Amino acid sequence: MSKSFSLESIVRPNILSLTPYRCARDDYGSGILLDANENSFGSILQEDESLLVKDLHRYPDPNQVLIKERLVSFRGLQSIDYLFLGVGSDEIIDLVIRIFCVPGKDKILITPPTYGMYSVCANINDVQVIKVNLDVDDGKFQLKPDKISEALSENPSPKIVFLCSPGNPTSTCLSHNTIKAVLDDPNLKGVVVIDEAYIDFTEETEGASVAKWVEKYPNLIVMQTLSKSFGLAGIRLGICIADPKIIRLMNNTKAPYNINSLTSHTALNALSLQNITKMRETVRQIRAEREKLISSITSITGIGKLLGANNANFILVQILDEACEKPSNERAHWIYKELAENQGIVVRFRGKEFGCEGCLRITVGTPQENEILLEKLKHLLGGTTVKST
Ligand SMILES: Cc1ncc(COP(=O)(O)O)c(C=O)c1O
Repeated sequence: MSKSFSLESIVRPNILSLTPYRCARDDYGSGILLDANENSFGSILQEDESLLVKDLHRYPDPNQVLIKERLVSFRGLQSIDYLFLGVGSDEIIDLVIRIFCVPGKDKILITPPTYGMYSVCANINDVQVIKVNLDVDDGKFQLKPDKISEALSENPSPKIVFLCSPGNPTSTCLSHNTIKAVLDDPNLKGVVVIDEAYIDFTEETEGASVAKWVEKYPNLIVMQTLSKSFGLAGIRLGICIADPKIIRLMNNTKAPYNINSLTSHTALNALSLQNITKMRETVRQIRAEREKLISSITSITGIGKLLGANNANFILVQILDEACEKPSNERAHWIYKELAENQGIVVRFRGKEFGCEGCLRITVGTPQENEILLEKLKHLLGGTTVKST
């Protein structure tokens, strides 16, 4: 090896200093997994529907027209020209930042507490992150359009505003009026991304998708995914809905065959009318389980408030200090570690997020999983020793 080679000296400085995305799964990969907001009821597909893919010696369709056609009728869109598919929503987040933001110069705006990948992707791309916190009073987790407007009036103005509805970790839909206020803000020079990863879990009336607004707003990008309601996190299929001009830029920027044939075959099956009905039925069951979990968990001594509006397949719950007086990060983190290391249940500690003091984020599990969780929480918070699993 050449003596003059030094890895550190050739890596981009922002990559060298990067704090990568970390999930609970980096530390704990087995047990009852209630940490990543997957669909605990499993994939909506029968096992044999995900197999038997033909023509694997050929490259996949670069445009994935068949999947897009099904999405057009599922989401009531005008045409496939409004759709782009990515390797999960995570690829779409990265692409949007690469398309609009010049490294070392431009910035994005996020509204904490929010999904961590917006900042991670911005950091990877050497793009600055401006934060305008949500209104977190009483766990309402709503936008502050006036504060956002102020931040947008800076020169240069942030190029992308990332909003998440229902939010992660807030489980709360943003009010349509405030989303409109941001989109109509005269200070807005860039695009608004609404991340609707959990949209299918919301009740029709309170959390309807804004996907069709793309027909009116050429600066709106809506992201959805098959990872959550369809139970297909493993296939990595993210959906981007936007004005055809933006979609063209995304197609120009993506890798030629980003959606592989196994994913595409599985996604096409998932989007059949029969399987969409199945997805809706699973969502109904998860919602019913969510309500049961909420009523049981809040009756446990040591559990504080449930924050947010419970519009997704997870809840955000406060753990109180031993005197049961105020939320405690110390105790919440202890519960998180104890559950993962000795009780076989992985949840997510979110106490460091803005407005989430003492909080654990817990994915709604199956009835059996929720029962085990409740039992262990009761014992841990009651100070009784719990038998390890
Ligand atoms: C708000 C939000 N957006 C996007 C994602 C990532 O979705 P995908 O699996 O489609 O990459 C997640 C995953 O947890 C999420 O919570």
